[in-house]
Amino acid sequence: MLAFSNQILLLLLAVNAYLVGKPLLQLAEATTRFPRCIANASTLQECIGSAAAVHATESFGSSLFGTSTTPARQVGMRSEFIHRDKLSGSTATTFQRLQQAIRRSNSRALRIGSRARAFSTNSTAATSRLLYDFTTPLESDQFQPEYLMQLQLGTPVTTFHAIADTGSDLVWVQCLPCLQCYKTNDSIFDPSNSSSYSQISCSSQACQALGSNQLPACSNGSSCPYLYGFGDKSVTIGDLSNDTVTMNTTTGVSVSLPIAFGCGHNNSGISFSNDSGGIVGLGRGPLSLISQLSSVLVQEQFSYCMVAFEVSIKTNSPVLFGSAAALSGLDILTTPILDGPIPSFYYVGITGIDVGGSPLQIPGSSFNSSSAGTIFDSGTSLTYLEANAYAIVKSTFASLISLPTVGGPESGPLLCYDTSSQPNFQPPSFTIHFLNGSSLSPPPANYFISVASSILCLAIGNVSNLQNGPSTPSILGNILQQNYHILYDLSASQISFQPATCDAL
Ligand SMILES: *[C@@H]1O[C@H](CO)[C@@H](O)[C@H](O)[C@H]1NC(C)=O
Ligand SMILES: *[C@@H]1O[C@H](CO)[C@@H](O)[C@H](O)[C@H]1NC(C)=O
Ligand SMILES: *[C@@H]1O[C@H](CO)[C@@H](O)[C@H](O)[C@H]1NC(C)=O
Ligand SMILES: *[C@@H]1O[C@H](CO)[C@@H](O)[C@H](O)[C@H]1NC(C)=O
Ligand SMILES: *[C@@H]1O[C@H](CO)[C@@H](O)[C@H](O)[C@H]1NC(C)=O
Ligand SMILES: *[C@@H]1O[C@H](CO)[C@@H](O)[C@H](O)[C@H]1NC(C)=O
Ligand SMILES: *[C@@H]1O[C@H](CO)[C@@H](O)[C@H](O)[C@H]1NC(C)=O
Ligand SMILES: *[C@@H]1O[C@H](CO)[C@@H](O)[C@H](O)[C@H]1NC(C)=O
Ligand SMILES: *[C@@H]1O[C@H](CO)[C@@H](O)[C@H](O)[C@H]1NC(C)=O
Ligand SMILES: *[C@@H]1O[C@H](CO)[C@@H](O)[C@H](O)[C@H]1NC(C)=O
Ligand SMILES: *[C@@H]1O[C@H](CO)[C@@H](O)[C@H](O)[C@H]1NC(C)=O
Ligand SMILES: *[C@@H]1O[C@H](CO)[C@@H](O)[C@H](O)[C@H]1NC(C)=O
Repeated sequence: MLAFSNQILLLLLAVNAYLVGKPLLQLAEATTRFPRCIANASTLQECIGSAAAVHATESFGSSLFGTSTTPARQVGMRSEFIHRDKLSGSTATTFQRLQQAIRRSNSRALRIGSRARAFSTNSTAATSRLLYDFTTPLESDQFQPEYLMQLQLGTPVTTFHAIADTGSDLVWVQCLPCLQCYKTNDSIFDPSNSSSYSQISCSSQACQALGSNQLPACSNGSSCPYLYGFGDKSVTIGDLSNDTVTMNTTTGVSVSLPIAFGCGHNNSGISFSNDSGGIVGLGRGPLSLISQLSSVLVQEQFSYCMVAFEVSIKTNSPVLFGSAAALSGLDILTTPILDGPIPSFYYVGITGIDVGGSPLQIPGSSFNSSSAGTIFDSGTSLTYLEANAYAIVKSTFASLISLPTVGGPESGPLLCYDTSSQPNFQPPSFTIHFLNGSSLSPPPANYFISVASSILCLAIGNVSNLQNGPSTPSILGNILQQNYHILYDLSASQISFQPATCDAL
């Protein structure tokens, strides 16, 4: 989908690298050939200019990279997941933050489940236009994100804090002119103010990739109207458009790359979060940010490393794209990404669970990806297991722990203990076995959380308690994933994970 060759992109990286003092280019050569890049490298288009210039840079590029000390293929991009509480400057205590996170987590799991149910019970075009479908009342009206990502769009750039969503594909922001826009702290994108903006034609591949999210008005070819609906009648309607996303490379310099994104003119309904101006979809589909970046990356892959919840109030979590995302070392575990009912989701196969070192007798159907399956999700905080598996996990923990149980936080019947009689209590071990023999044995902090002084709760919920019906997948949430570097390799269709100190990555 992207028209620029790797070579040109890499050349631009080198020019930018020069600007920050990494002398990949001779100064005289660079200023002669790329005066605009040196003066003002705000976008790739501006920098490369006409077709003739593109040709010139291509030939220059090949000789350049023959001699470069940093092989350009090693270059990737770096961004950050910003916790909502850090962005808003929350002054809540860690206990309060955690209790709020549990509420949001239940709400997101409910949305994920209702989307799965909509897909599995009704496959009409109208249904597949739904990003989420609600028939169960939500605890909170707003689609409150856990993590946001800085999104820099257009020329000059407009900066957004967009919801980072591994569960959806489209990248979209609120756009002028607004027929209806929701209130937000973020800017509203003004296409007429961006020199690199263009509409996408109806016949383009990107527009076709919308599938049934394309509106019927898309027929005369001048624009590509889309609609994504939320089952509570919230919608974003707009034109699929083309503009540059500016990202930082791992060497700290920036690159601007054209992507197809939703320029939303009618974003109405109760679902939208007022702390973000849009969504960055990181799912598996063709319009997600990672899929669109694939033509300029060596590998279609991204990774993130979530810092511990209590640290997320002051430290962001790194997100890496392309080569920079690669893991190295001996302690890397890998499991295939499976196809499941929702094409955007990252399904994996669980083959077993151990508690306290002993394998549990969980029926094989509990984690079957062709029915509900299990997904990795960055936006859900707790982990949720299918009811049969949950019952066995819960009763096994209960049989191994002799502390008094107490009521959990208001928003979910979690299994909680009063640890005041045993301040140094160590929870039993917990291991998830995945397809292809990889096992995740996280530290206790990833599955037992302290929600109040001397109250420790199992950070694992019962999918069925969400009253979502049988199609809700089990969800491996971000607390379980914290301090693991998690790689989503879409080229190889596999997820890898490795223990890491995320705030040092
Ligand atoms: C977006 O615009 C760029 C620059 O004009 C072009 O190369 C690219 O093909 C366009 N992408 C889409 C999806 O239309
Ligand atoms: C939105 O802006 C208000 C007022 O400036 C501020 O108090 C609030 O924390 C901001 N919220 C977020 C999520 O940034
Ligand atoms: C499927 O969805 C369509 C459109 O929303 C609706 O008209 C139809 O009744 C639904 N079918 C079933 C079986 O729920
Ligand atoms: C760089 O480009 C932006 C947007 O086109 C413009 O506003 C700015 O003045 C330019 N800066 C220089 C140094 O040319
Ligand atoms: C926005 O979209 C909704 C849902 O399709 C529609 O009911 C409403 O009239 C639209 N608003 C405007 C101002 O076009
Ligand atoms: C966002 O919503 C929250 C909760 O509903 C409210 O307190 C806050 O004032 C709103 N902020 C903006 C910028 O509308
Ligand atoms: C348009 O861009 C200029 C910078 O070139 C900026 O100062 C102005 O605020 C922008 N207008 C809008 C509506 O975004
Ligand atoms: C599409 O083109 C036809 C024939 O030229 C015209 O009648 C119709 O109004 C156009 N539709 C739109 C949405 O522009
Ligand atoms: C790129 O890095 C600069 C400098 O560290 C930072 O200010 C900016 O927010 C980063 N951009 C993105 C999109 O993360
Ligand atoms: C997992 O194992 C199967 C069967 O041995 C093999 O075909 C597949 O390539 C493996 N996948 C990964 C991601 O290692
Ligand atoms: C998984 O589900 C599919 C479809 O529902 C079924 O055909 C298959 O037998 C199930 N496999 C297991 C191990 O339960
Ligand atoms: C899980 O939720 C379902 C539905 O609410 C309930 O019937 C079941 O008892 C719950 N399981 C456990 C172990 O709490």
